[in-house]
Amino acid sequence: LRIALIGYGNVGRAFAALLQRQRHAYPFRIAGIHTARHGTAYGDGRFGPPASSVEEFLDRAPSEIVAEITTLNPANGEPALSHIRAAFARGRHVVTANKGPIAHAYAALREQAAAAGVQLRFESTVMDGVPVFNMARNNLPGVKVLGFTGALNSTSKIVIEAMRQGQSMQAGIEAARRLGITEADASYDIEGWDSAAKAAALANVLMDARITPQDVDRRGIARLTPERVRELAANRKAVCLVSRARFNPTGIRVRVRAEVLDDRDPLAAVSGTSNLLLLHTDLMGTIGTAGINCGVEQTAYGLFSDAVDIARHAGSVQF
Ligand SMILES: NC(=O)c1ccc[n+]([C@@H]2O[C@H](COP(=O)([O-])OP(=O)(O)OC[C@H]3O[C@@H](n4cnc5c(N)ncnc54)[C@H](OP(=O)(O)O)[C@@H]3O)[C@@H](O)[C@H]2O)c1
Repeated sequence: LRIALIGYGNVGRAFAALLQRQRHAYPFRIAGIHTARHGTAYGDGRFGPPASSVEEFLDRAPSEIVAEITTLNPANGEPALSHIRAAFARGRHVVTANKGPIAHAYAALREQAAAAGVQLRFESTVMDGVPVFNMARNNLPGVKVLGFTGALNSTSKIVIEAMRQGQSMQAGIEAARRLGITEADASYDIEGWDSAAKAAALANVLMDARITPQDVDRRGIARLTPERVRELAANRKAVCLVSRARFNPTGIRVRVRAEVLDDRDPLAAVSGTSNLLLLHTDLMGTIGTAGINCGVEQTAYGLFSDAVDIARHAGSVQF
């Protein structure tokens, strides 16, 4: 199958490299790559001037699958949302690591994909490639997700760890940026927008919440200081940016907060780029998934696993 990439930053490059490494067992081909400022490439050619629009790019780069891997916009999910709709309009399946569209318009996108007869997959939007959505889809028949608790933002953890060692917030952000895991605008991580977008995506997909990141009761770590983190650490407490969702009598409550936890709490124990998500369910009680030291390689793997799944469903390839 052919895959057209929209976005070729940290994740896009790792995805292309993974497709290349796996090409003998999984013969995907890159149909083209489109970026905002670095131009557009068709087939396996070089980058030239950017296509005048994503529509033009998609028309000139025929593919079965489109990978939407552009920057997060927590305000409205655009332009990624329009990119995905342009792909659907051309009968293309979509894989994405961009949580904006899932956080803003999952229910509508699901209907539009079904009407177009194509698949929309988004495993990498939360917890990199660790199975969350695919696990719920494939392995939990009949189970209702009643809520979740997660430590889902790696940048905030690296920043808090840097502060515990007496460094500034800015030094922590730089350390996270060197790992390629911060959002292009790191304030989205620090102010909790990345966590709010992930929580909205989880609630929309797993709990049919139909909310946006703006509906999440959100407070980030912007006001945290190294002094406060060290004072808490001296008392065996840890600060962690935690996302929580629960059904309550008036609907679904979704919250992101820097919580003070006992330092042996499982949420506090997952450090650095490790993430933990607990799903609270009716039939399975509380179950969890964890990703230890995940990075862009694992985000790329989530896109890859979605593409393989689509290829299997399309029946065109026997993997
Ligand atoms: N990095 C991670 O660890 C991670 C993990 C999970 C999910 N994600 C998500 O994956 C996505 C990509 O992350 P990243 O780290 O790869 O970001 P990035 O390094 O900032 O790269 C973003 C890419 O998108 C392109 N782009 C931006 N706006 C565009 C537009 N309007 N049209 C076409 N291309 C556009 C950029 O083009 P230029 O190259 O021309 O600037 C760049 O190639 C984000 O949504 C992020 O939230 C990232």
